[in-house]
Amino acid sequence: MLQVAVIGCGVIGPVHAAAVRLDQETVLRWACDRDPAKLARVAAERQTQDAAEVFADPTVDLVCVCTQHPEHAALIVGALTAGKHVVCEKPLASTPSDLQRILAAAAAHPRQVASGIFQHRYAPLARRLRQVVADGAFGTITSLDVDFVCTRDQGYYASGAWRGKRIAEGGGVAINQGIHSIDLGLWLSGAEARQVSGRVRRRRLACIEVEDLFEAEVACAGGLTAKLRADNDGVTGWKQRIVVRGSRGSFTLGDGHRLLAVEHSSGALREELQALDSCNLDGRPLGGGKDVYGYHHALQIADVIEAIRSGRRPMVAVADAVQANAVILATYHATATGHPAVLPLDQSSYVYPNLPLESA
Ligand SMILES: NC(=O)c1ccc[n+]([C@@H]2O[C@H](COP(=O)([O-])OP(=O)(O)OC[C@H]3O[C@@H](n4cnc5c(N)ncnc54)[C@H](O)[C@@H]3O)[C@@H](O)[C@H]2O)c1
Repeated sequence: MLQVAVIGCGVIGPVHAAAVRLDQETVLRWACDRDPAKLARVAAERQTQDAAEVFADPTVDLVCVCTQHPEHAALIVGALTAGKHVVCEKPLASTPSDLQRILAAAAAHPRQVASGIFQHRYAPLARRLRQVVADGAFGTITSLDVDFVCTRDQGYYASGAWRGKRIAEGGGVAINQGIHSIDLGLWLSGAEARQVSGRVRRRRLACIEVEDLFEAEVACAGGLTAKLRADNDGVTGWKQRIVVRGSRGSFTLGDGHRLLAVEHSSGALREELQALDSCNLDGRPLGGGKDVYGYHHALQIADVIEAIRSGRRPMVAVADAVQANAVILATYHATATGHPAVLPLDQSSYVYPNLPLESA
């Protein structure tokens, strides 16, 4: 039996617990949360408010880190140092130095699985698109456009003391909500980000310290340019567009990352992609989640468990989950300095910008 601990039992912790329970050979050994009311949301063999107790238990194999962003690095490092496998929610880190600590810890424990959650990559359509782009079916990828819009208002930001704070959340609509579409777009197009220009703004919300608009242009290896936008506009529910264009075709994903359009000379490829789109869900909806998360936590947790059992790399190792996170931090840094940011970011000079409210 694989023994699992979930640390952080707020909104997403119960989704991890439900995904873990789908595996018959797995036991939820620990639920851990500093807040007793949140702790009560996840039923497990044992409960604790102190993560150190989880790390000290030699029977624990896998730790799911489901806390707010600045806690991630210490918990990942703690889990790996204690000999556990670990899977951590997005974003891995709210600063470049935490990102570096996580990568260093994963590299220092190569026999342990260390995975970063980006569940939307597990949709069958996304996986196939990634494969055919990598095989060259769409030719040289020349442009990527990501446009994400949602509404997060005062009620949402009041739902947790960490939300909307520079230090505690590390950013706003980009690092928390838009990161899913930004990651999916960069991953699907095979982008290797080199330099980031852009700006973030706080246009309308007095209750937060972080951005409600993020706009970046990313120069990538091979001449690919990525335009990324994440907008908390106060009007729109949850919408996204990802457009990938190459020298031999293009495709567009829309809301729910469904296939809106595919331009390609091969009818067989177009039909295959359209067929995959209609089986976008894995058919195992989880309790405790929301539609916007999609249903793919189950697939990612299953992949992590399978990787542990077979000694292989997970589909999203922490090193694979870094790029969108780093591009977003680079845009924050570019806003603060007024200059394009080159990746990897210089950890020592990183700063989140001071964002005066524009509508004040
Ligand atoms: N993948 C997705 O679709 C998705 C969706 C929602 C949230 N998330 C991510 O999940 C993470 C958690 O978000 P949430 O909305 O569940 O937050 P939340 O505030 O609802 O829950 C976080 C919990 O962690 C607990 N906690 C924090 N530090 C702790 C520590 N050191 N030890 C024990 N408990 C600790 C808090 O008490 C809190 O109950 C964030 O990284 C967020 O971005 C991902």
